[in-house]
Amino acid sequence: MTGLVDGRVALVTGGAGGIGRATAIRLAQEGAAVAVADRDLQGARATVGLLEELGGPALAVAVDVTDPKSVEAMVDAVTKEFGALHGAYNNAGVEDALQPAHLITEKQWDHVVNVDLKGTWLCMKHEIAYMLTHGGGSIVNAASVLAHVTMSNVPAYTAAKHGVAGLTRSAALDYAQNGIRVNAVSPGAIRTELIDRTIASGKVSESDYANLHPMNRLGEPAEVAEAVVWLLSDRSSFVTGHCLAVDGGMLAT
Ligand SMILES: NC(=O)c1ccc[n+]([C@@H]2O[C@H](COP(=O)([O-])OP(=O)(O)OC[C@H]3O[C@@H](n4cnc5c(N)ncnc54)[C@H](O)[C@@H]3O)[C@@H](O)[C@H]2O)c1
Repeated sequence: MTGLVDGRVALVTGGAGGIGRATAIRLAQEGAAVAVADRDLQGARATVGLLEELGGPALAVAVDVTDPKSVEAMVDAVTKEFGALHGAYNNAGVEDALQPAHLITEKQWDHVVNVDLKGTWLCMKHEIAYMLTHGGGSIVNAASVLAHVTMSNVPAYTAAKHGVAGLTRSAALDYAQNGIRVNAVSPGAIRTELIDRTIASGKVSESDYANLHPMNRLGEPAEVAEAVVWLLSDRSSFVTGHCLAVDGGMLAT
């Protein structure tokens, strides 16, 4: 039986853990060669070790998605190693400082917006430049339910993720006739280190997060990975400019 992305080359940023690692694993299980990029190279290598156990070709790449040269070098490294780039999941992201707008510092604002929004754009810029001259491709960005609604004390993250949703739609239009689809996933609260860190701050509890979702639980990274793999595959060939909620019903409330 062939996999959903058999023979394809996929890039996952922020693949050292969490949703990125789960997605890299699903992509490998569905037949892709996967490049795992992260500022945490050791973590990216650990993910690659898991992919190699699955038998898939895999590559670990060090990247800081806020650094234009580093992002350009990441795309070059992937295309040099595998000779192609068919799909990219721009997933690297950081959480907010859990303060209202008048209390966050400029440094905190810049950190969140630079990684979550500018980093997504920088990755798209170089991925799209390659895809335009190499037969197109599919891009998925990491948005969030906070790209559509919000909650207390996440001003920079909300602004950045609303920006990711807008950027996704804008690029979907610009490249719709070039064989490049651009979509996003909008997860609810997913059980990863990012959520563990916010729970550890003492400002939000696990049950607060669970209660956000009509399903009354947190999501699992593998549940987001399924949506990303579908969006990266040809099964979603007429889908572009869409933010796919993986949120236990949260946005329906
Ligand atoms: N976990 C959730 O509840 C949730 C919900 C909605 C959206 N998201 C989004 O999904 C994505 C993944 O989240 P996660 O929960 O797996 O987080 P995580 O913290 O477990 O993983 C994020 C990864 O991004 C990497 N990273 C951070 N800054 C980077 C940079 N400048 N350059 C390169 N890599 C960098 C980290 O090293 C880490 O491996 C993020 O964009 C996040 O905003 C997460």
